[in-house]
Amino acid sequence: MTTNRKHGFATRAIHDGQEPDPLTGAVNVPIYLSSTYVQQGIGENKGYEYSRVSNPTRTRLEENLASLEGGVAARVFASGMAAINAVACLLQSGDHIVCGNDLYGGTPRLFNQVLSRYGLEFSYIDTSDAGNIERAIRKNTRMVYVETPTNPLMRLSDLAVISKICHRKKVELVVDNTFMSPYFQQPLALGADMVLHSTTKFLNGHSDGLGGVVICTRADQAEQLAFLQKAAGAILSPFECWLLLRGVKTLAARMDIHDRNGRTVAEFLANHRKVETVFYPGLIDHPQHQLAKRQMRGFGSMITFETGSLKNANKMLKKLRVCSLGESLGGVETLISHPATMTHAALGEKGRKAIGITDGMVRISVGIEDVQDILEDLEQGLAAL
Ligand SMILES: Cc1ncc(COP(=O)(O)O)c(C=O)c1O
Repeated sequence: MTTNRKHGFATRAIHDGQEPDPLTGAVNVPIYLSSTYVQQGIGENKGYEYSRVSNPTRTRLEENLASLEGGVAARVFASGMAAINAVACLLQSGDHIVCGNDLYGGTPRLFNQVLSRYGLEFSYIDTSDAGNIERAIRKNTRMVYVETPTNPLMRLSDLAVISKICHRKKVELVVDNTFMSPYFQQPLALGADMVLHSTTKFLNGHSDGLGGVVICTRADQAEQLAFLQKAAGAILSPFECWLLLRGVKTLAARMDIHDRNGRTVAEFLANHRKVETVFYPGLIDHPQHQLAKRQMRGFGSMITFETGSLKNANKMLKKLRVCSLGESLGGVETLISHPATMTHAALGEKGRKAIGITDGMVRISVGIEDVQDILEDLEQGLAAL
């Protein structure tokens, strides 16, 4: 593996898995647009046979992402959902997964509407209280699946404590680290067994490609996931692998600006008279601010705030000019979403109410524009309320 664990994060993001092409000296990993590879004889090849199984651009990306999360190997998939599906496919019919209760809405949709038909069982609990996890683990529990901070309520789960519980109970801990990126949070170092991302978000960072990755701590996990890439075929194309390699090179620089802008916007919203509540782990009155400081190297740029009603949210969103209303997050541009009708629509009104998602909530993924422009835009949007 072409990685150097002694180097700092930004250096590894730029260099690991990406040494100059031995044939031409090209500093960037070439895009290997080849579905198949010539074999020298029966069973003789140069490590590649068919691009669903493996592809040189994908190999470089997987080495890079494994290094950034501190895992033994990474496997990339066609989207974040394909990565989550692959992780669930490591289990057997009759197995039970304990999950957080305010995950990205697409995750429980996959679990409840697809995978439960194949005999997997799911329980949803508030993982911000580790005691709930201990109580929810049953004889057939094989996995605990956590997002921290959660989407959109920005609740944290204590990964060091949870991983100890999981290991005592011989259950694997899987963490969706999409919101923080490996730059701000390293779940494997805190004891998680696997970490995954929708690379569509901060890792890509430019809102121009979907993708997902699972980073493993053991070779057997990586082997099984490679088998799923081959058997189920939800792999990332060479071009999208290259886009992701390109995006990751600036991850450290982008995340520093996201974090700085995020803190400024959160303070602005917290002090705004038209805003009822702000959910952001970087605010000192966030109930888990101390855990955030311990567990994360930054607070990121995901903020949720309460406008009071669906009508208010809509009035404000219609006025915005710099911030765009749209699904997704983690891009260089500021994106705002309305969880009740977008990411969490599939939960239904009852499901949203049960976990505290209101119709007036707005989630903002603060971009890396000049922060003054973002603040002025939010100010004129809020003036409409
Ligand atoms: C935290 C989180 N995990 C997973 C996903 C799914 O990723 P994708 O849209 O790349 O399939 C998303 C999508 O928004 C997400 O926010």
